[in-house]
Amino acid sequence: MMVWMISLQQQQQQQRGTCGLLSISSLADLKVSLARTVREELRRSVVVEDNNHSELPTIYVITPTYPRPEQIPELTRLAQTLMNVPNIYWLVTDDTDTPNQDLIDYLTFTGIPHTYLNTPMPPKYSGHKVKPKGVANRNAGMEWLRQHASKGVFYFADDDNTYDIRLFQEMRYTEKVSMWPVGLVSKEGLSTPVVSEGKFQGWFEGWIGGRTFPVDMAGFAVSVQYLLEVPNAAMPYKPGHEEDGFLRSLHISPYDIEFKAEQCTKVYVWHTQTKKSRHQPDIIFKKKYDNTNIRVLQELLRFQPKEST
Ligand code: UGA
Ligand code: MN
Repeated sequence: MMVWMISLQQQQQQQRGTCGLLSISSLADLKVSLARTVREELRRSVVVEDNNHSELPTIYVITPTYPRPEQIPELTRLAQTLMNVPNIYWLVTDDTDTPNQDLIDYLTFTGIPHTYLNTPMPPKYSGHKVKPKGVANRNAGMEWLRQHASKGVFYFADDDNTYDIRLFQEMRYTEKVSMWPVGLVSKEGLSTPVVSEGKFQGWFEGWIGGRTFPVDMAGFAVSVQYLLEVPNAAMPYKPGHEEDGFLRSLHISPYDIEFKAEQCTKVYVWHTQTKKSRHQPDIIFKKKYDNTNIRVLQELLRFQPKEST
């Protein structure tokens, strides 16, 4: 092991044009250097897409989001996943009338090609106990695609899921509609097509609910060209039936689905949910913090006084 480590270290130093063993002075340095090499190798082997970016079909990622203290943290996590994926175009569709300048600035910072849209839920749904979350956002995202895109693939990426960058490699060459497993969804903890010898057998999902396509929002992608061929395809304002309603509006059969992630044997996306912030800031609103950094941070974190005056 030690011999291998030293030869690896020598090899690295030769690559960098430095000489001798002396520049690595301790075992700690060696560990850091070894970890870096392993990381780089791993990245090289998984992100096979890294070359010829311009050749790759664009993936339009449509992310519904809405104002709350967790919004920027969620989008930070997602952005820093997407920053590792070539040829992404990010449509961030915010469920509010009011543009969020901090978010707009953050999107600019990421360098990801993107469009930020304000896409509020129609007011008639706001009083509903179970709301059609993210539907106005996703439909607006598809409307944007119909106006601005002609090829590539699109994917609905909720802001709170966890995505492995290999997922994007899987979906990129979708011809019509592709699917893959989603972890940590529903009572059974998994939502996926059941596949045997490459053929569709049915669905595995904790809640079938009479749906033709009992799948999670994170479990499929659609080709832009195919969307454009079906002018009326849209997502219904029907909680629990958004995915099914949309996929049915595409006029496809489960037998048309392209199975990705090694015939649905890999999990590259998880339906993780963030615990709602339970912080009840109080002293942060005290006058003595006016004209200090605390006031800036309070606004940045979107903390509101309990009774706003
Ligand atoms: C559940 C399902 O598991 C998802 O597949 C489905 O996308 C979602 O419901 C839905 O109803 O659309 P869940 O975790 O309960 O997911 O939903 P959220 O993550 O709270 O919301 C889904 C998306 O809509 C998120 O990206 C969220 O930011 C956005 N959203 C939520 C809004 O735009 N407005 C809201 O008022 C709430
Ligand atoms: Mn969610």
